[in-house]
Amino acid sequence: MLQVIGHRGASSYAPENTFPSFDLALEMGADGLETDIQATQDGVLVLIHDRRVDRTTNGSGAVNESTWADLGALDAGAWFAPRFAGTRIPTLEAFLARYAGRTGLALEIKAPGVEAGVVDALRRYDLGTSLTLTSFNWESVIAVRELAPVLRVSWLTRTFDPEAIERVRAAGMVQICPKATEITPELVDLAHREGLEVRAWGLADEALMVRVVESGADGTSINFPDVLLGYLREHGLR
Ligand code: G3P
Ligand code: CA
Repeated sequence: MLQVIGHRGASSYAPENTFPSFDLALEMGADGLETDIQATQDGVLVLIHDRRVDRTTNGSGAVNESTWADLGALDAGAWFAPRFAGTRIPTLEAFLARYAGRTGLALEIKAPGVEAGVVDALRRYDLGTSLTLTSFNWESVIAVRELAPVLRVSWLTRTFDPEAIERVRAAGMVQICPKATEITPELVDLAHREGLEVRAWGLADEALMVRVVESGADGTSINFPDVLLGYLREHGLR
């Protein structure tokens, strides 16, 4: 069954990477949550996509040059819609306390250097197969493999070809995460034969969504999980 992962929550309908967005994805029936991890200047792990806070808060500046006292006071909801005013940037700790064990988690390391802190935070939970750690940064995913070989690790890639599949397999990861535009049934088959799961990302529209479903991929992150879940139900895939 295709795993439907709310990308930054249900980020088409609520401010990305906030509790309202994550809660909404779960209310819609998503199987898991995707989010992005960075660290503040004083080492607090926070969930935010961009290097700077400018697009998704009422503040300005780089995440890694801001203290948690400053970041935690920002409004991370009003930019999206007035009814979300007062929404805060979540810490990884608060996210895990709220969602660990309730749903699947696809945690993306956005800022190289946070790997040990993330692994430490996860040690307090026994998440088994419900957790996958990912990154576009090869060194980050390898670092996680070395710090905690027991954790499920996957690589986010814009190139999906036999070489990328072999590289991920040889590194002992469980999953490859290609951009949706690069996915073909043949490459999904090859990844499966190599023992890897395939989780897509970057489903910009419903045509790409259908392409991912028809490819045989194992899962995908998506900003509009309700649309994908509706499609799966309509086609007898749920
Ligand atoms: O699900 C993976 C996806 O989140 C990667 O791209 O830029 O949205 O973090 P991005
Ligand atoms: Ca991400």
